[in-house]
Amino acid sequence: MTVSVRSYRPEDAEPTWESYFHAVRDTASKDYSPEQVAAWAPEQVDLEEWDARRAAAHTFVALINDQVVGFGDVTGDGLLDMLFVHSSATGRGVARALVSAVVAKARSLGLVELHTHASRTARPAFERFGFEVTRANDENWIRGQNLPNYDMRLRLSS
Ligand SMILES: CC(C)(COP(=O)(O)OP(=O)(O)OC[C@H]1O[C@@H](n2cnc3c(N)ncnc32)[C@H](O)[C@@H]1OP(=O)(O)O)[C@@H](O)C(=O)NCCC(=O)NCCS
Repeated sequence: MTVSVRSYRPEDAEPTWESYFHAVRDTASKDYSPEQVAAWAPEQVDLEEWDARRAAAHTFVALINDQVVGFGDVTGDGLLDMLFVHSSATGRGVARALVSAVVAKARSLGLVELHTHASRTARPAFERFGFEVTRANDENWIRGQNLPNYDMRLRLSS
């Protein structure tokens, strides 16, 4: 089983949404309540708006057997905003492959630091990638639900 990574394309809108939905509803549901994950990943999505947001960042998709199983991104100012792996593909190095691509992109942009707002679920993985917690956010409101998370950063200069 090989994980490959390439840049996001418009046809990736639906499978990246599926990855997001199942990452939140299935995987993150061990750390957040049903109400919290329902607010985080609602049933309905506007795929055109979703595609525009993915295209606005440097977004990478991960594939196993030519199927999109996750995605990650970085903005021009070093925010790793999205890192989601379909619940059927966790624990196989998909996030690690995506973060490697994001780090390479960040370096090519001349960035010296990445930052992210990591969920409780993602914090251990980010720590494995070398990120450190800079702040615990007790309040992070999404559609009327509070989803506490962590600010984390990775220095790229050394
Ligand atoms: C967090 C998430 C992105 C990890 O994706 P993944 O593809 O399963 O991660 P990987 O297989 O690449 O594992 C990455 C590393 O983190 C470690 N790791 C992952 N989850 C862990 C956990 N809960 N506890 C300890 N270590 C963990 C793995 O062991 C691995 O370490 P290693 O490569 O040194 O052995 C995925 O589970 C997910 O989408 N979660 C729900 C959505 C979410 O919270 N996204 C982030 C929003 S901020």
